Amino acid sequence: MTFTIAVSGKGGTGKTAITALLVKALGKRVDGPMLVVDADPNSNLNEALGIDAKRTIGDIRERFLKNKESLPPEQPKDEYLNYLIQSSIIEGEDFDMMIMGRPEGPGCYCYLNNILRKIIDSTSQHYPLVLIDTEAGLEHFSRRTTKDLDLLLVVTDPTVRGAMTAKRIKELCKELHIKVGRIFLIINRMSPQLEGRIDGIAKTSGIELGGIVPEDSLIQQFDIKGDSLLNLPENSPALKAIDDLVERVLLRLIAA
Ligand SMILES: Nc1ncnc2c1ncn2[C@@H]1O[C@H](COP(=O)(O)OP(=O)(O)O)[C@@H](O)[C@H]1O
Ligand SMILES: [Mg+2]
Repeated sequence: MTFTIAVSGKGGTGKTAITALLVKALGKRVDGPMLVVDADPNSNLNEALGIDAKRTIGDIRERFLKNKESLPPEQPKDEYLNYLIQSSIIEGEDFDMMIMGRPEGPGCYCYLNNILRKIIDSTSQHYPLVLIDTEAGLEHFSRRTTKDLDLLLVVTDPTVRGAMTAKRIKELCKELHIKVGRIFLIINRMSPQLEGRIDGIAKTSGIELGGIVPEDSLIQQFDIKGDSLLNLPENSPALKAIDDLVERVLLRLIAA
């Protein structure tokens, strides 16, 4: 059985940073490889994880459309696509990674997109744990064949706008018929002066508070230098908060 975790939230609130910290915290504690999916077209999760981007699913779609006429007729198209997808998966130390890249065009290439989605879903099912860095619009999920999510972590900064987007994301799940097992709010970039806002932010979002991640200058420094967040020292306050979230909440849910 695959346990699927998605990280969503308004752009710039720290989804990619939190996803990278989760890779680090979960990688140490969970047996078996995990599949990390970068499903935010504006994301650069691979950089946060210190790996070079290979071909994205978007690239595969384009390449297939360009070459499909010249494919040998005896080669089944879905086999060829499966081959392209498998070879686009990047193998990291504790995890494998798939990058979605450019989103699908509106309504076009339906047949091809259906095949791609089926291959992605069946690939995901080979992993005990799938972790997805996704965009606030949840585009990726609205199109998947399997829409179930075991856990949705909605990241917000300590602002009303972030909390409103979080609320909207929760509503979107209903509208898009995405079945979510549990949903938690993560307030990121918390500082002591802003602690008075915690209750208000959680209330505005309408989502149960799962954890609070402090402002951590190490994350900024690592991002500026382009260093992998997997190399953050154990005393990084943000990493400690994510370690705590994993120990306190996630491991129990994953094991259940
Ligand atoms: N806890 C944190 N402390 C300090 N800076 C952070 C923290 N979380 C994220 N950042 C910074 O905020 C910016 C946006 O983070 P990012 O993860 O790219 O957001 P998103 O993926 O939601 O767009 C980055 O420059 C990152 O370094
Ligand atoms: Mg991002």
